[in-house]
Amino acid sequence: MINLWYNSDEVADFHPLVEKALNDALVNVGYNNIAEVIHHPAIPNSTIIPDFAIKLKGSQRYVFIVEVKRTQRDVESQRYQNQSRSYVTEFGPHWEPSYHKYFCVTNIERLVLFADRNGVPLTSCLLKGNPRQHSLFNPVNHDATASVAELQATFENILPKIFNRVPPDWDNNWQLVIESFHNNYVALNNLLGYPEAVKKELTLYELFRLLAYAYLKDYYTQTANPNAAYFHNYPPNNATLPQFTNNLSNNYNRIIQLDFQQIFTDHPNQGQRLFPNNFTANYLQYFRDLIQCFIQHNANAVANNPSPSYIFNLLTSKIYIREELHSKGKVMSDAELSNLLATLCIDSPNAKVLDPGCGDGALLDAAYDQISLLAATANQAKTHNQILNQIDGIEIDPFLSQLSAFRLLSKNLAQVNNNTSANIVIGDIFHNARANQYDAVVMNPPFLRNDNPDAPITAADKTKMRTAITGQGLNYFVANASQPNLYFYFTNFIWHYLRNNGKAGIILMTKFLNNEDGEHLKQFISDKVEAIVSYPRKYFQEFVVTTVIVILKKGNNSANVSFVRVSDENILLNPDNLKAILALNADTTTASYKLRIVPRNTLVPTTNWKQYLNDKNYDDFLNLNFLVDIDHHFASIGRGGAEASGASTIIFPTFDQQANNFFGLGKRLTPAQRNAGVQRTRINIPVGLNPRVSYGIQNNFHRRNYVLSINDIELDKAFHFPARADRNEANALPVALQGNQDLVNFFDHCVAEFGLQKWGTIVNAAFRNTINPKILIPRADRTKHCVYYNPHNHNLTLSTNFFYCNDLRNQNANATDEQQYKFITAFLLSAFGQIQFELNANNQEGLRKLEGFQINRFKIPDLTQFTQAEILSVVAAFDAINIANPDFSGDEGIMTPRRNLDLEIAQIIFTRNNLGFANAIAMTDYFELFLADLVEDRRL
Ligand SMILES: C[S@@+](CC[C@H](N)C(=O)[O-])C[C@H]1O[C@@H](n2cnc3c(N)ncnc32)[C@H](O)[C@@H]1O
Repeated sequence: MINLWYNSDEVADFHPLVEKALNDALVNVGYNNIAEVIHHPAIPNSTIIPDFAIKLKGSQRYVFIVEVKRTQRDVESQRYQNQSRSYVTEFGPHWEPSYHKYFCVTNIERLVLFADRNGVPLTSCLLKGNPRQHSLFNPVNHDATASVAELQATFENILPKIFNRVPPDWDNNWQLVIESFHNNYVALNNLLGYPEAVKKELTLYELFRLLAYAYLKDYYTQTANPNAAYFHNYPPNNATLPQFTNNLSNNYNRIIQLDFQQIFTDHPNQGQRLFPNNFTANYLQYFRDLIQCFIQHNANAVANNPSPSYIFNLLTSKIYIREELHSKGKVMSDAELSNLLATLCIDSPNAKVLDPGCGDGALLDAAYDQISLLAATANQAKTHNQILNQIDGIEIDPFLSQLSAFRLLSKNLAQVNNNTSANIVIGDIFHNARANQYDAVVMNPPFLRNDNPDAPITAADKTKMRTAITGQGLNYFVANASQPNLYFYFTNFIWHYLRNNGKAGIILMTKFLNNEDGEHLKQFISDKVEAIVSYPRKYFQEFVVTTVIVILKKGNNSANVSFVRVSDENILLNPDNLKAILALNADTTTASYKLRIVPRNTLVPTTNWKQYLNDKNYDDFLNLNFLVDIDHHFASIGRGGAEASGASTIIFPTFDQQANNFFGLGKRLTPAQRNAGVQRTRINIPVGLNPRVSYGIQNNFHRRNYVLSINDIELDKAFHFPARADRNEANALPVALQGNQDLVNFFDHCVAEFGLQKWGTIVNAAFRNTINPKILIPRADRTKHCVYYNPHNHNLTLSTNFFYCNDLRNQNANATDEQQYKFITAFLLSAFGQIQFELNANNQEGLRKLEGFQINRFKIPDLTQFTQAEILSVVAAFDAINIANPDFSGDEGIMTPRRNLDLEIAQIIFTRNNLGFANAIAMTDYFELFLADLVEDRRL
């Protein structure tokens, strides 16, 4: 007996069986003299490696690829099918020229055969007669003998086609069906007078009813299933409008008696639905046209390629428009992500599972497979109906809800009977409270900003969500967030669905880990979160934003929280790998992942939780023993604050050319004053005080030179107060200055406007912040970024928009102070500094915002550990940037204007510690690309 199960090892257990079947087939069909099976063949000049290939012994060129997976689900995955296709493409000149490009994906139970052809989507490479279905592994004793024998027979059928160079039979009737579906959808959609989204949804709902009808009718007929009796002929082509309507309605109602309720029930909106209410002769022609296409092609399509998941993929890839889905928060989870979530959250074959906002059913499909796997593994065979009874979905979009019902029911069409039911409710989750009913909630909530133009969160929505959340007695944490994203409300609300010990697996935007509003969400999940998993940004391609998986648990929470950063995608291919990593419960770092265990009682919501997911190379970099805390070298690190107490327009005044004097404005107006047309008071600074208006730095609108020029510190001129305020004087001017009539007039005017106390505070803030800062760091940056060195010895008035580093200490005796200030400025400007900015700062909807305590976490090189020559090499690269004066647009990567600076810094790091890199260039590339990823994240 051959023993094999879905959790057996792919390479150790599945591969030898496939290899033997391939070899035996090759012998049996008589090609073993000219060809051989190669396990893991290396593709010249490529880093990817297929599982198996067949190679001609004579030419040493390849003719067939076999990719092995462990489950039928993986065989149907478009990701893996595309991956196999890429091997064929990569083989290029090493493919035997006269041979067609056949490739397949198999888990032994099922095999899908393709032949590559240029310029067409994967779905158009599928051949007739797929999938090839073999016996399933025996769920009781895990015997795979029959499956393997049938796989070998399939190979024996395929190999002669390859060696005889039989032209691939791509002629795919599904393409014609889907094409007709799409054409009629577009035409019908154009007839309607509703908003775009409504039109689409109504049209798709109706046409999908027709398509599902056609598919099920032919499927049941061809498989001689008794359910075929429920399906009658389509209305005849010459039927009148009432006859057609009546006939088709009867057809639908008949199947509803069998089941498929969620697919064939009339659209919930009676006033707008296209059928049977409101049906017109205009609409009829498109229904007829599609039905004609079914009559011609559908039976062949089903006979050639009956797999529902194939048709599903074909249809959805034709009608989903990625950008549109994104802008409405409707990006569907891909099969692999769904699998991960289901595996991490569903622990028992009897679990009751919900997806609130189930879209087209991707997560529920994975939940079905997980329950079925757990049941089979526990030797507890479950029927289709039993599994469906454990799975619920709620979806507001009727068409998507219809798709998810179809998807679930078609997991096992043969077992559908009139006790079958897919529990998908069309509705709003916030109107579907179901307290304490589920063992697992899987969710990929909509990501929509408050101010999303395509789908704004209205005041009515907010009220509805708040009422629903508080109605469940939940702590309404969203109230504390200033700009809550829609997924905040979802996370808040779905908590009530869970039973004790229930688990939720949620996809969330990574940014909540470190943006301002994220604090409140972190607070909410602090006592609930069990694990947070991050993965390579590009792994789930459908997402435009960076996401993490968050696992929550209701009660019996562990003392520690696991933060996992997966860097090697292969880990994700088998969700059990991730489960095993999470079970380690001890800090672990490998080349493929990093697990950080954080005691729950040390989690602080106000801190940046991304720190726990840091890249290993970044951690190693920060731990270098020649890096020190920034305050090691600067006795004074602070934030400007000249206008922190108000009157910014007086402190940074405007020049009036005609009057030849500066002026500012008085108190801000109240809304009532503004409405009444009141103007803000103008406060003139007497001409005699013009010399007091001098250097200043107020805002970051202009990009200045990296080494500030005199002009740069004159861009925002400031009024330099001669002294602190003296509140014992009626005008706050110290006695010694009362003789200066211009100052007296100016101060009198200001005290009259602001009051003595307030004016005193304003003067003191500006006075205190008129200093000589050496390194200047803007507090908030969107795309551009900069760090400045100030070589001048003039005092300047510094606003709250900048931090500064002053009073160099612990210097290097061999370099000048100026060189050392420049060296540190250069370091902060480089990728090595900017990474720290990105990781420590708050990300506020694309704005990088720094706080003082965050700057204090920065690491900089210990000046005493570098030679003067090294310091000068970095300074020279910085001076070169200053001369070239380029803008950093925020498009990071390995081609930025500071590449040379990054290289110089990498060089001095590399000579002390190579951090595992082959050379300084590799180190530079790595950190520059790391920064590119972080910046991209912030800009989304
Ligand atoms: C990001 S999609 C995810 C779909 C699916 N769970 C998946 O992972 O593939 C979010 C879904 O939530 C649905 N949705 C949004 N607001 C909803 C609400 N208030 N009630 C129910 N469904 C909602 C959307 O229509 C969309 O299908």
